[in-house]
Amino acid sequence: MSRAVVILPTYNEEGNIRSVIEGVFAQAGKKPSWDLHILVVESTSQDRTDEIVTGLQKNYKKLHILRTKKEGLGKAYIRGFEYALNILNADIIFQMDADLSHEPAKIPAFLSLIESGADFVIGSRYTKGGSIPENWDFHRKLFSVLGNWIIRIGFMNMKITDWTSGFRAIRAPLIRNIIAKVDNFSGYVFQVAILDNALKNGATVKELPIQFKDRKEGKSKIDSIEYIIQTLLYVFLESSFVKFVLVGGTGFLLDSIILYILALKLHFPPWFAKLISAETVIISNFTLNNFWSFSHKQLDLRWKTYFRGLLKFNIVSSGNIFIQTIGISVMTYLFGKSNIILYNALIIILLVIPYSYFFYNKFIWKDSR
Ligand code: GDD
Ligand code: MN
Repeated sequence: MSRAVVILPTYNEEGNIRSVIEGVFAQAGKKPSWDLHILVVESTSQDRTDEIVTGLQKNYKKLHILRTKKEGLGKAYIRGFEYALNILNADIIFQMDADLSHEPAKIPAFLSLIESGADFVIGSRYTKGGSIPENWDFHRKLFSVLGNWIIRIGFMNMKITDWTSGFRAIRAPLIRNIIAKVDNFSGYVFQVAILDNALKNGATVKELPIQFKDRKEGKSKIDSIEYIIQTLLYVFLESSFVKFVLVGGTGFLLDSIILYILALKLHFPPWFAKLISAETVIISNFTLNNFWSFSHKQLDLRWKTYFRGLLKFNIVSSGNIFIQTIGISVMTYLFGKSNIILYNALIIILLVIPYSYFFYNKFIWKDSR
């Protein structure tokens, strides 16, 4: 029998915790091949949460409690993961809110997807059939929806619709592989970090529609401002994007240096100097992107694959030159030549960067999944 451990992080959930625990254990019989346990990670609640859980342990042998300092949701999960892996010998670990926002009745469906081969199942509010509460006010809906779009575009992963969901089932070996990488993310951004690392690890991720319910008792512990800043920062630093822009910048420098030496010092014909500098930059950008910006999707080093990648990179780069030529012609035709440097910068920022990032992700360094 495989063991599933449902982690319920709690901070002041006295009004909810009993129903959640009873609801989860009520699912146990529905999947007879799974041994279902609960691990409450209790972080110094000021109310009766701890007392209620301790009381319930008399009825439920498979109810465990881990007491930790209050260091944020992410830290509570990391401590819980360690305990579930090393002490409870979990095969599957669930992440679930302890405020009745997540319906225990979904647990069997998560396990079925795991049985069918998924490593990481997301209870998704934004996939077909999923939902967020109707009564959420506009700004809450906006943040949640917009946040997910920013993450999807930053990581160029349109397949996953809900990156921030807190209802998930994950295979234990996958967590073992990535736990060290998410150790620093103590707040709610942890949710994004663990999914990103799972994907970079090659995990098979599936989404299961869920209907997120508004909590009725107690209140949310999320610090929206901190959460938004940390999430934006995460996407900025951990997606390939910043590295990709830096590589573009070094390419520009290299191009200028080679052009200067060949055309001005060695007196090559300008067209020939430019041809060499441009292709050198293409090769160097391709190599840097392959081993750095997109290292988690690295092309293998067989001569054929590498050369095909380089060929594709040349094709995308030609498209780039085309966009810049047309762009500059249109802008100068409309507004005259005097601001050509500004137009050039605008074209690079608004067209070239998005165009290249999109095609590098979708054409050259594709997701193998
Ligand atoms: N142990 C512990 N320590 N538990 C915590 C802490 C903490 O520092 N902070 C929050 N929790 C517990 C809460 O008691 C609750 O059971 C669960 O974590 C979720 O916290 P909420 O405060 O209810 O989160 P939310 O409803 O605002 O956020 C939900 O949506 C987010 C995405 O928009 C959650 O599902 C998040 O996980 C999710 O990222
Ligand atoms: Mn909640």
